[in-house]
Amino acid sequence: MIRLDGVEKRYPDGTLAVESLDLLVHPGELIALVGPSGCGKSTTLRMVNRLIEPTAGRIEIDGRDVTHVDPVRLRREIGYVIQRVGLFPHLTVAANVATVPQLLGWDRKRTSARVEEMLELVGLPASQYADRYPHELSGGQQQRIGVARGLAADPPVLLMDEPFGAVDPIARDRLQGEFRRIQAELGKTVLFVTHDIDEAVRLADRIAVFSQGGRLEQIADPATVLGAPANDFVADFAGSDRGLRRLAVTPVEAQDLSHPATVLVDDDLATARAAVEGGAEPYAVVLDRAGDLRGWVSARQLGGGAPGDTAGTRARRFDETISVGDSLRKGLSEIVQHDAGWLPVLDGDRYVGVLTPDGVYSALRRTSPSREEPVPL
Ligand SMILES: Nc1ncnc2c1ncn2[C@@H]1O[C@H](COP(=O)(O)OP(=O)(O)OP(=O)(O)O)[C@@H](O)[C@H]1O
Ligand SMILES: [Mg+2]
Repeated sequence: MIRLDGVEKRYPDGTLAVESLDLLVHPGELIALVGPSGCGKSTTLRMVNRLIEPTAGRIEIDGRDVTHVDPVRLRREIGYVIQRVGLFPHLTVAANVATVPQLLGWDRKRTSARVEEMLELVGLPASQYADRYPHELSGGQQQRIGVARGLAADPPVLLMDEPFGAVDPIARDRLQGEFRRIQAELGKTVLFVTHDIDEAVRLADRIAVFSQGGRLEQIADPATVLGAPANDFVADFAGSDRGLRRLAVTPVEAQDLSHPATVLVDDDLATARAAVEGGAEPYAVVLDRAGDLRGWVSARQLGGGAPGDTAGTRARRFDETISVGDSLRKGLSEIVQHDAGWLPVLDGDRYVGVLTPDGVYSALRRTSPSREEPVPL
């Protein structure tokens, strides 16, 4: 846990970078700090590991006042990953990752096992990368080594300052995905600075929106920051397309699904036709006796028929399915990409309904934290 209490930083030239900040990061929580350039994000991070001394207030990690801890020791206990990576150019990848474990006096065997494990974790196997030098890696690979180095000594607390800032969008997307997986596995307590609101939405448990002077305008989970910004400043920062951004943080749930007629694979064509005609949609979902999805049929596909023809023989397979808990964004993206009006949804292996654009809309409405009456379109 990280706790900041009335923390202030006034630089010697008089700049008040952080005025009076209260912030609590729970154990295992990732808080993203976002806000305009110069609002005090990096200053805040660097006060936590005492690269910068606060001029007032108190900072605690797990109940311990950090000003009473030797700063060098403190920094060994806190992972720190920065944008320009800061790898030592004259050291190999392995030696870079081993820096903190070595400072902590780990023996050679434990250190090298750890280096191997970390390189594996960030997807750069030791056999291939351990002996390279930083200049022999791409920018994105260097950043991954930066993350590996930050995690190497298994610090419970991580400070990350635009760690994925200097890479192209595709590499960034991959790094974010990897980091999410790592975080789900390791559950570190993380303060993560970014100016990319989408990155914050994707990675953070809560987002802290700063304005100049380290003023906290809002701190809340991503859905709330996007759906119910506390004021105009936050609304501006979250962007005019924050409504669309909410798609990424809103899961598909059973209650938002539609239920077209279902038929069984071995239903004959007349039975299947009757089911479609009796249903609300001009198609039916085809299931087997176990309830597993086998495809779909439209009324047209059920016409004519030779003896022995069944719903199953006429069924078309689905290109894509999604699962309960996937994001609406994923669902809508599949619907658009496959030019389909709907998409079957599974819960585990079981078919539970279909997602349509109407369902997407109703899910957004249902989960909107704002109490405003919806405007009819
Ligand atoms: N050593 C320093 N001396 C004086 N002022 C400083 C110093 N370091 C930073 N500042 C000022 O403190 C304020 C906060 O800087 P900080 O680096 O924390 O901003 P930031 O939110 O990280 O910005 P960015 O998004 O551009 O990285 C800025 O006005 C900056 O100019
Ligand atoms: Mg900064």
